[in-house]
Amino acid sequence: MKQLLQKLAVAAMLMFAPTALQAAVKPGSFTTGDKTFLLNGEPFVVKAAEVHYPRIPRPYWEHRIKMCKALGMNAVCIYIFWNIHEQQENVFDFTGQNDVAEFCRLAQKNGMYVIVRPGPYVCAEWEMGGLPWWLLKKKDIKLRERDPYFMERVKIFEQKVGEQLAPLTIQKGGPIIMVQVENEYGSYGEDKPYVSEIRDCLRNIYGKELALFQCDWSSNFEKNGLDDLTWTMNFGTGANIDQQFRRLGELRPNAPKMCSEFWSGWFDKWGARHETRPAKDMVDGMDEMLSKGISFSLYMTHGGTSFGHWAGANSPGFAPDVTSYDYDAPINEYGHATPKFWELRQMMAKYNDGKKMPAVPKAPMPIITVPKFELTEFAPFYRNQHLIPNVNPMTFEEMDLGWGMTYYVTSLPEVPVQSVLTMEAHDYAQVFIDDKYIGKIDRVKNEKSLTLPAIRKGQKLAILVEAMGRINFGRAIKDFKGIVGDVVINAEVDDNEVTWNLKKWTMTPIEDDYSRAVKAFDANKVERPLSDGFAKRENGRGYYRGYFTLKKVGDTFLNFETWGKGQVYVNGHAMGRIWSIGPQQTLYVPGCWLKKGKNEVIVLDIVGPKEPVVWGQAEPELNKLQLEKSNKHNNIGDKPDLNSATPAATGAFKAGNGWQTISFDATQKGRYLAIECLSTQKEGDRAAIAELYLQGQDGKRISREPWKTKYANSEEENGNHLGDKVFDLQESTYWLTEKGAAQPHLLVIDLGSEQSVKALEYLPRAEQGAPGSIKNFKIYIY
Ligand code: GLA
Ligand code: CA
Repeated sequence: MKQLLQKLAVAAMLMFAPTALQAAVKPGSFTTGDKTFLLNGEPFVVKAAEVHYPRIPRPYWEHRIKMCKALGMNAVCIYIFWNIHEQQENVFDFTGQNDVAEFCRLAQKNGMYVIVRPGPYVCAEWEMGGLPWWLLKKKDIKLRERDPYFMERVKIFEQKVGEQLAPLTIQKGGPIIMVQVENEYGSYGEDKPYVSEIRDCLRNIYGKELALFQCDWSSNFEKNGLDDLTWTMNFGTGANIDQQFRRLGELRPNAPKMCSEFWSGWFDKWGARHETRPAKDMVDGMDEMLSKGISFSLYMTHGGTSFGHWAGANSPGFAPDVTSYDYDAPINEYGHATPKFWELRQMMAKYNDGKKMPAVPKAPMPIITVPKFELTEFAPFYRNQHLIPNVNPMTFEEMDLGWGMTYYVTSLPEVPVQSVLTMEAHDYAQVFIDDKYIGKIDRVKNEKSLTLPAIRKGQKLAILVEAMGRINFGRAIKDFKGIVGDVVINAEVDDNEVTWNLKKWTMTPIEDDYSRAVKAFDANKVERPLSDGFAKRENGRGYYRGYFTLKKVGDTFLNFETWGKGQVYVNGHAMGRIWSIGPQQTLYVPGCWLKKGKNEVIVLDIVGPKEPVVWGQAEPELNKLQLEKSNKHNNIGDKPDLNSATPAATGAFKAGNGWQTISFDATQKGRYLAIECLSTQKEGDRAAIAELYLQGQDGKRISREPWKTKYANSEEENGNHLGDKVFDLQESTYWLTEKGAAQPHLLVIDLGSEQSVKALEYLPRAEQGAPGSIKNFKIYIY
């Protein structure tokens, strides 16, 4: 009894006494001075490492923070991901993997400051840019605007984050030195009143002493720049740094300079090569910044993994991101030092005030391999479920489904001839008639229709629609899932165009959830799927389950290259999406989620595997494409004959970085833009263009949403320098011709429909000297 009382007394002391940490830290200050930040009144250069707590298993948080510190960083920079903290409206979670305050305390414990970027929108190649999908249940909501419901939810959420983080500001003795207002609003729109409201909301929560800042691009930060906030620039490896800060220097000559996102690498999307950026260019850029006293945050220093369904999708177009967020960062996806790490560390040592660099910590777990094993249990995924009837097909949001799939069924009319089925499916639809697979409509490929065979009245039409991540960038972030709008069949019957708008649907929502998978096995489990033919009868689509045994746990990379498309769960943890097209073929499985003895793997395969086998390898495979055809746009049949066409403009661009506008003498009408590059500024250079816009008659930029690359005579596929890069809304990515390809070069863009065009805006590469920039050109609109 006495012992118990003593124990209770100690526990009470621990609970109520300030911890050693709190006792040791004193309130401080972080402000802006003359051309520098001031930490407790002293000049300070921020060397921040961007890392994302949801992308790192919690048991590894401290290891990753220590790795950043070993690079000579003095801060970590984090986004707050609204949609992991409020997965259901009004249900908040800041515990376990979501305990962001603990992440900040761990940073402080390791002598690191923290920069917080609480959104509400964060981009970050994360589902819906961090916004919760349930906002879309209000169909007409305006996201990132002063929509009353949006603002109400933003304020409630920021308040909740504040409860966690406001006690941790530097003014209160915590590690947080700065908080960001919104995120790159300039690439979304122009709306100072909205940005001001976010600023006021954060100021109320964190106090007026805490430094607030805005990040944007050098080309657009003025649009939304608020007078009383610090302005920082985002740009990537290789960029011409003086050019990036030129405009800021003109407007605010005495302001400190900071690159708030210096991109170490880039993110990967399904169906395109793994992106890398040279270590030397990254290190040189950081060296240059440090030599000039410029602060930075290295985005990403450690990218980690977009586990489960949290990877987003890019736009214009629909380009879903892969599960790995390795980012070619110095600390790789699984927390190990890369060659880039060592090069960076060496350079950073020059700026460590003559002190020894902090030690590189040992990885928390060894790397292990797992011998090949078969997933022998099978269960179909849309049997005996509750059905939702409705006249029209419903979106996921209308059915209160956040993530997963829906099985849409209706009865077909009599169509005696071949017909075309048209619909907008988000994102990957497979069409069946009387359970026979007819084909797919893949949003990644911009597909909207499919040819159907002749149909007898009453045949069953089933459409299985799987959602990938919601778009996280650009105006398209309002990205409803499932079938959006009508499903229509068109056919020519007896010389007449006949249209059927299909009604009377029943829908089976299938949420992406481990317990749903387990229930499917409980209800319909079949052993040995391939040998008994059962899985084949289901076209191989369904859940598969198998096990592997471990004597010792460790990190591993499970290989799924023989599988189709879907989701993986290991021991109940949602590991992420898989897709045979690649480039990612393995999933990072952290040892902290494995155990000695039996481990369970469930694969939900919506397409069906070639072979239901998995193995664990010691290295990730992030760059193996398995495509039906190459991504290049060099089909000679798509090349226009411009011999007799009259150019809209002929001339020469100026040399150097930055945007240039070419106005046409007369308004041009046409569906296609062709830009012919007759010469480059530097002779022998490979031609490159970072971005292109067209202006309409009103002088405003025409939407690039429907744009597609029609033809390019030459495109460098390694490193993804295809024609699409001129309209991907990213100034750091570019179209590049191949080594030795002969001039003139030709890039043709399909604008989607006929447009009236007055001018073309052109951006060369952001690197010093604008390599590959074009000199003589001809522009055609036809
Ligand atoms: C922008 C965004 C980030 C991220 C990067 C690209 O800078 O602010 O969230 O999306 O682009 O990785
Ligand atoms: Ca680009």
